[in-house]
Order: sequence, then C-alpha cells, then structure tokens
Amino acid sequence: MCAARVFKIAVIPGDGIGPEVIDEGVRVLDHLARTAGTAFAFEYVRFPWGCQYYLDTGTMMDADGLDRLAAFDAIYFGAVGWPTVPDHISLWGLRLAICQGFDQYANVRPVRLLPGVQSALRNPPASMAWVVVRENTEGEYAGLGGRNLHGRGPGKEVAIQSSLFTEEGCERIMRFAFELARGRARKKVTSVTKSNAQQYGMVLWDEVFRRVARDYPDVETDQGLVDAMAARFVLRPDTLEVVVASNLFADILSDLGGALVGGLGIAASANLNPERRYPSMFEPVHGSAPDIAGRGIANPIGALWSAALMLDHLDLAAQADRLLRAVAAATAAGQVTPDLGGRLTTREAADAIMARLPNAAVPSGADLAPP
Ligand code: NAI
Ligand code: MG
Repeated sequence: MCAARVFKIAVIPGDGIGPEVIDEGVRVLDHLARTAGTAFAFEYVRFPWGCQYYLDTGTMMDADGLDRLAAFDAIYFGAVGWPTVPDHISLWGLRLAICQGFDQYANVRPVRLLPGVQSALRNPPASMAWVVVRENTEGEYAGLGGRNLHGRGPGKEVAIQSSLFTEEGCERIMRFAFELARGRARKKVTSVTKSNAQQYGMVLWDEVFRRVARDYPDVETDQGLVDAMAARFVLRPDTLEVVVASNLFADILSDLGGALVGGLGIAASANLNPERRYPSMFEPVHGSAPDIAGRGIANPIGALWSAALMLDHLDLAAQADRLLRAVAAATAAGQVTPDLGGRLTTREAADAIMARLPNAAVPSGADLAPP
C-alpha cells in the first residue's frame, strides 16, 4: 500500500462568519478525504489572525507571518473585517499582505448558476457560467499615494491614490487568462478597462492585451469599457467566458456576477501564485458579514466552492469535481441556507452536501469541474 499524500493547510478563519464557514469547510474536506478511495489527508494549522488579534496585539498578523505561511501547500482563508477596526487596516494588514507578499497575482472567481438557485435576472439564459480573472497585486490596489492633512488649511485636505500598471504585471495576468480559456469549451477572453478616461495605465493594459492575444490565435477576444461591461453582465451574460480585468474592476464585476447567480454566499475565489513559488490562498468572496455573524445561518457554499478550487490546485481535480457535484445536488434539492431561500443552518447545509458526496471519485465531467 502506498503512503497517503498529506497536504499541509494553513487555516486563517478571520472574523465574523469567517470561522463559521471555514469550520464547515475543514469538516467537509476531512470527510471528502476519508471517503475518496485514494490515499490523501490534510494536516491543518490554525492561525488566530484577524481583528480580535489586532485589538489584543496591535497587529493583524505576526511579523514573521509570511515566513511561517511559506511552508504550507495552501492557505484556506475565511474573511477579515469588523466594525471595531477600520477596514483599510484589517484588509491591508492580512489579506492584501498575503496576496501581495506571496505574489498571488491571479485571483480567479468563477461565476456559475447552480441548479435550483434563483438568478437575480428575470429571464436568465439556459446556462450562466463564466470566470472573472482579477489582477491581484497592482492596479488600483497598489497602495500608492498619500494624504496632505494640513497643507491647504482646515477643510482642504488632499488625498492622492495612484494606480500602478506594469507591462509585466499586465502580461502575466493576461497569459493566465488565455491559458484558462484554452481549457474551456468556448475559448474566449474579454478584457475590461476604462482606457478612454484612464489614459496611461489602462491604455498600456489595452496594448499589452492586443499583443498577448496574437500568441493565442485559437482564442476569441473582445474588449469593453467597465461601465458598459457592468450593463453587459446583466443584459448579455451569455457573451461572457473568461473576463480579465484590473484589481478594482474585477473586484466589482465579480460581486456583480455573484449577485446575478445567487448572491455573495456562494461566490468562491482562488488567489494563485501560478508558478507555485509561494502558497496560494483560497477564500470565499464574501466578507465577515457582521449583520448575520453568530447566528449560524451563513451560507457555507462560498467557502466549500473555494475548497474545491484548492483541491484542484493540489492536483485533486476529481475530488474537486466530487465536491461541486454534491454542492449542486444539495442546491437542486433546496437544501440551502436562508440567503438562498432555504431554512437550513450553516452546519445543516454542510451536512446536506456531505450526504450527497458521490461515494468515490467520479470521472471528471466538464459541466461541473472547476475552471
Ligand atoms: P459582506 O460580504 O460581509 O456582506 C454583504 C452582505 O452579504 C451582507 O448582508 C451579508 O449578510 C451577506 N452575506 C455575505 N456572506 C454571506 C454568506 N456566506 N451567507 C449569507 N449571507 C452572506 O460585505 P460587507 O458587509 O461589505 O463587509 C463586511 C466586512 O467584511 C467589512 O469589514 C469588510 O471590510 C470585510 N470584507 C472582507 C473581505 C475579505 O476578507 N476578503 C471581503 C469583503 C469584505
Ligand atoms: Mg470584493
């Protein structure tokens, strides 16, 4: 008998509903491993970082945090943010510190209407399934700028927030998007900018996109401005396949996409360092949801789908497929939390999904495989 592969996972549950959904994710992952029919297991180390940690210690994460995380195969992350700590401190102190510190430049956010889930659209197309690829290390979230509190007198404060676009940064996220498109049934990449108004960084982005596209003649391309693209997400979602955009634009468009297919409770994401020089991080798109935290009703699907993306990254694609099939079977049966119109608690919704896991790995089917 060959030895089980053991994957070392750093777990950072964070704040609010973060721990509620991540606990379920860990439980489901363990169950999946026990019933997989192939020998693998997960070994978790939990890190207490987040807003309470900040209030206790003055820092969101330990100074040697990145060094300690570097040894793991992947990071499974909940959400950070709490009303007692300014959001820019919690975000920069933990999530952005990890994404940028580990060069997780590809943020992949699948958008898919699951069976039984009601779209926000009145007449949704037969299938809604696309992926938003977000540049995750520069752009509008480069953190460049400053405030001049006193220079111009009382009531005349000035703030500058600059975007950073590098040719290398644009090129590598676009190549990632094209490679992703090559693995899909419809090979198409849509690039989103606002290069009519943002005449430096986004014009560079457009130029790099046209250059990179020439290396992928088998992939259809189109380009759009972000305002028109927001309308297109709602009016013509059938035209979307792989959408590549800057840090801010893709952040907004992916929440819009998530809302169209059932809300933030199900939206998943992967923060990838594709070269695997550093661990990648997997997290639901949603935040800590202080409005429902502590009530045990958070939808675990966003966290579970993110776990499926992690399985895929760990070369366990058949297991990712198994998990997504179980999620789809549970939504089809209406076994869901209140945000999707159901009556289940977080725990019960996860139990329903576990009960529907196919017994052993099924052959990977394109319909529900993660992108
Ligand atoms: P949010 O995603 O936490 O909540 C938005 C709305 O969606 C709320 O009504 C919430 O109840 C609902 N919702 C979110 N996840 C849900 C789930 N799993 N099940 C059912 N309903 C769900 O966004 P919001 O309110 O803007 O931010 C709250 C805090 O989270 C802030 O401190 C913010 O900075 C932080 N945040 C952190 C993120 C991260 O760690 N990656 C991402 C987004 C926000
Ligand atoms: Mg967001």
